[in-house]
Amino acid sequence: MKITIRLIVSLTFVVALVAVGSSFYQVREERAHLVSELERRVILLDESLRESVIPLIQSGSLNKLERLVERLGSRQGSHGIAIYNSQGNVLAYTPDLKDRVLQPIPQVVNSLAAGRPATLFHRSGGTRIFLYASPLVDEDKVVGVLAHFHDASYIDVRTAEIWKQNLIRFLILSLLVVVITVLVVRWSITGPIAQIAVWMKDLRLGRVKAMKHFPKEDILDPLISEVNRMAKSLAIAQGKAEGEGKPRGNAESLWTATSLKEHMRVELGGNKLFLVSNREPYIHTREGQNIKCIVPAGGLVTALDPVMRACDGVWMAHGSGDADRETVDADDKLRVPPEEPAYTLKRIWLSKEEEDGYYYGFSNEGLWPLCHITHTRPVFRLEDWSYYQKVNERFAKAVLKEIAGEKFPLILLQDYHFALLPALVKKERPDAKVALFWHIPWPNPEAYGICPWHQEILAGMLGADIIGFHIQFHCNNFLESVDRFLESKIDWEQFSVTRGGHTTRIKPFPISVNPESLFKEAGAEETPSKEQVLREIGIPSEYLAVGVDRIDYTKGIPERLRAIERFLEKYPEYIERFVFVELGAPSRTHVKRYRDLLTEIDEMVEKINWRFQTKKWKPILFLKAHHSHRTIAPFYKVSDLCMVTSLHDGMNLVAKEFVAARDDEDGVLLLSQFTGASRELKDALIVNPYDIEEMADAIRFSLKMAPADRAGRMRRMRATIQEHNIYWWASRLITELARLRLPDDVA
Ligand code: F6P
Repeated sequence: MKITIRLIVSLTFVVALVAVGSSFYQVREERAHLVSELERRVILLDESLRESVIPLIQSGSLNKLERLVERLGSRQGSHGIAIYNSQGNVLAYTPDLKDRVLQPIPQVVNSLAAGRPATLFHRSGGTRIFLYASPLVDEDKVVGVLAHFHDASYIDVRTAEIWKQNLIRFLILSLLVVVITVLVVRWSITGPIAQIAVWMKDLRLGRVKAMKHFPKEDILDPLISEVNRMAKSLAIAQGKAEGEGKPRGNAESLWTATSLKEHMRVELGGNKLFLVSNREPYIHTREGQNIKCIVPAGGLVTALDPVMRACDGVWMAHGSGDADRETVDADDKLRVPPEEPAYTLKRIWLSKEEEDGYYYGFSNEGLWPLCHITHTRPVFRLEDWSYYQKVNERFAKAVLKEIAGEKFPLILLQDYHFALLPALVKKERPDAKVALFWHIPWPNPEAYGICPWHQEILAGMLGADIIGFHIQFHCNNFLESVDRFLESKIDWEQFSVTRGGHTTRIKPFPISVNPESLFKEAGAEETPSKEQVLREIGIPSEYLAVGVDRIDYTKGIPERLRAIERFLEKYPEYIERFVFVELGAPSRTHVKRYRDLLTEIDEMVEKINWRFQTKKWKPILFLKAHHSHRTIAPFYKVSDLCMVTSLHDGMNLVAKEFVAARDDEDGVLLLSQFTGASRELKDALIVNPYDIEEMADAIRFSLKMAPADRAGRMRRMRATIQEHNIYWWASRLITELARLRLPDDVA
């Protein structure tokens, strides 16, 4: 309504301005015309009289003058006539003028003195009068003055009429403006917007899938096309989720290892699942005489190990442990997990040069910083690229060998280490159903385009039948990159790319954790209390905060430490009452940027501790080591606060692990807005990790949060994770893949 009123007021104002201006001009013109017409008539009358008047004045015939005046003064329009002698004394006049002419009239005097006519408009008794006084000249001698008094009120009447007519016109015009504005606004703006709103509501409620008739208004075109595109993806997502999801709300409807196993038995029809990643789920390392098996840090293993345990199959990965070769069979395989074998791990061996070029070089100095917008420059070396190609080919060979006897094998390829693998596998085995899941963000086309091999990477990835990202935004970025750099047919409605007759679907699959396993990881023993944990670390404190990370520059660890420093500076009442424990696993330390980061963090911790520490207390404890879930779980379970401050992160499973661990429904999660997890965990304290002040305040806010608020937030986040757990993720991805109809899939 506001816009309508604004339009009406401004249009009416303009119309009024034009109406007043034009009326004023018209009135002025009309008045000038009427005045000159009046003057002309009076002058004519004057000229016709003066011949008879002059002799009568000369002869002093006052009676005759009076008769003449009487006769002429009653003419139509005339108010009267007065005749003066050369001294300015009135000789004869129309009786009605008595009051006026007995007083000296300046125009008469002026006319006598100057020998020229003088005029005046004036008002007398409510009537406008025009006075015309002209000298009576006889042989160059002024003998008197003839003064005409003419009624000029009709001029006022006429101009008032013009104003009135124009006012009526203005009112009619204003009414038309109001009506037309209301109709145009309704037809062209509010109507179509209301139509779009109703349609979007129907779409949200699942009543329609797409809009059939778009409002045809140019001004709404950009809005309509954007909303329509968004709506189509929503409709597709809804449709597919309905098909795949289980009913929400009760415990039986949640995906579990057992229900996934059963579901997979039906979907795979006895087929095996093949999974490929760079990082292996179990690494054997030598510790003196003993061999130790460790589970590496990182989201990929945390997420996929439970899936493989549930589905069985073969997981192929780089055997990176120094005791890995000693623990495999002749085919480089072993059954894992060691304590409860459930699936096969096949190790692929790489030379040191290959690992340097493919893993440290191209994957982690090139693609990793390319995909994470954290202001660390990617480095692209031709040699690294060659190794990357070579290792992808090596893995392709291993996969092809493994699936040799399988019909329509299902292959789940993981992450940015294997961008070329989908095309390499599909080229040899077009019947294989291949999904590539990209665990890290995908940047916008401008950022992505700096990679010298951007086309080759896209082409390799598009060999897959499905490409998964954590969130829709990364799918959009990916499709836009394909649109920018590769010749292909993109279906924005289906979110698919067709190239060389092969179609790839691009979809978000937000990865998750297995909430159950964390409780097991914590051990059957009682969960220690916060006091016990604090006693263990040897720092007395009222509040405990925790951070769990691979030491990576994308995780925003320096920013987190800066926020803690600022928090203590701003709120000194928390000195000796707050301690932050960073459980940080050193990672990719052969890359200089990672070594520098470790040094930077060490120095910051030292500096902040030095600044605030007291005799028995310090604010930060940096436990730099590879930590098992068993070590991490107690911290998750008793901390008042868990800090996840990534500068950019595909998902971040630490956030989800923390929530999953809190069966006491307590604790606060502080979560960076730049993580995929922030899209789901809306009850976390969402922060911008670059905003140190905001983070410092969020720490304080978390410590002051009412227990009921904490519990409410945690309960809602836990419900999200319990429903959208890793089995839900796997069921969606694998079902989608298993149900794909490939061109020669006649099964
Ligand atoms: O987060 C991306 C990721 O590749 C995960 O998939 C993986 O768990 C983690 O990084 C660990 O990286 P890396 O295997 O290089 O130690």
